[in-house]
Amino acid sequence: MISISRNYPLKHITTFGVAANAAGFVEVRSITELQEVLQQKQFANIKILGGGSNMLWTKNYDGLLIHIHSKGVEIVEENNQNVLVAVAAGESWHDFVLWALENDLGGVENLALIPGSVGAAPIQNIGAYGVEIESCFEKCTAVEIASGNIKTFDKSDCAFGYRNSVFKTTLKDQYAICTVYLKLQKKPHAIRTDYGAIETALGNRKPTIQNIAQAVIEIRSSKLPDPKTLGNCGSFFKNPVVPLHQYKQLQKRYPSIPHYPVDTTLVKIPAAWLIDTLGFKGHREGDAGVHQNQPLVLVNYGAAKGHEIYALAQKIKQAVLENFGITLEEEVNIY
Ligand code: EPU
Repeated sequence: MISISRNYPLKHITTFGVAANAAGFVEVRSITELQEVLQQKQFANIKILGGGSNMLWTKNYDGLLIHIHSKGVEIVEENNQNVLVAVAAGESWHDFVLWALENDLGGVENLALIPGSVGAAPIQNIGAYGVEIESCFEKCTAVEIASGNIKTFDKSDCAFGYRNSVFKTTLKDQYAICTVYLKLQKKPHAIRTDYGAIETALGNRKPTIQNIAQAVIEIRSSKLPDPKTLGNCGSFFKNPVVPLHQYKQLQKRYPSIPHYPVDTTLVKIPAAWLIDTLGFKGHREGDAGVHQNQPLVLVNYGAAKGHEIYALAQKIKQAVLENFGITLEEEVNIY
């Protein structure tokens, strides 16, 4: 029988690096092990841990945390154009991107260096530089936590949206994703270099998938803090989407407000700009802070408690609401 650790410290297994304990903790390496743990029914509450890069613990957890550690990348179908790869949930997302690049398979190069595990990637439809995982996602298998049964979710079942999916909404904490099936391109044809700083970062280099990934790695490492040296969970908030008329009002006050049209009635505004404009960049309260290069990222300078980071986030939200009439929504899961 797989043994469950009690009162387990989470500080070093989540990228925010805040102290909290889980009443139970176990690492599983396969679907069978996961089902075996679920059968034990020792805890009323269960959560799944992937890379721990999108969680903020504000208090101890009274349930069982299951760390998915399954490994493996396998090509399961192939034709002249594409391959379908089955990737185990416990693989590191970035290691998988490196595997794709080594095998000259396109589709995930813009998503290089995103922290976290493959199993966690569809939950929040990870995205960067104009690409989201949904663009190559085919299906995934997942174990239902209550029953231990395996279910397949096709792309249309996942209700993907901006940093969102069914696994974050109606099915939150109900399934453990086990295997993710992604369709990659043998002759990459859907290369995206038009977003943000990629073209500038590429410079004279040819837009091959390897060079695009390299450019993304350069951009990300220049402005996003490495969780190994400074605790963080990437973007803390989502970029808010506001009605066009609200954006136009704001534009009168701030003629240079950056914005991206979503459709004819909605506009996305970078939360980083809102936070920066209010002077929070580099702001620090004890060991909780706002990163100096990317104000959308909250950081832990070492000994910040989860509730202190959360309090700083609420202060920012309040200031953004008072000044811009916009309610920021957390991207990070708060527990
Ligand atoms: N900005 C400022 N001040 C700053 C930094 C940025 O005003 O100090 C403004 C600028 O106008 C800039 C805009 O914010 O053009 C957008 O900034 P950036 O390109 O850095 O991207 P972002 O919208 O802040 C999003 C994702 C990131 C992803 C990048 C690149 C969200 C919540 N975040 O950030 O994802 O890497 O785009 O595609 O959508 C994550 O989800 O954890 C994450 C890091």
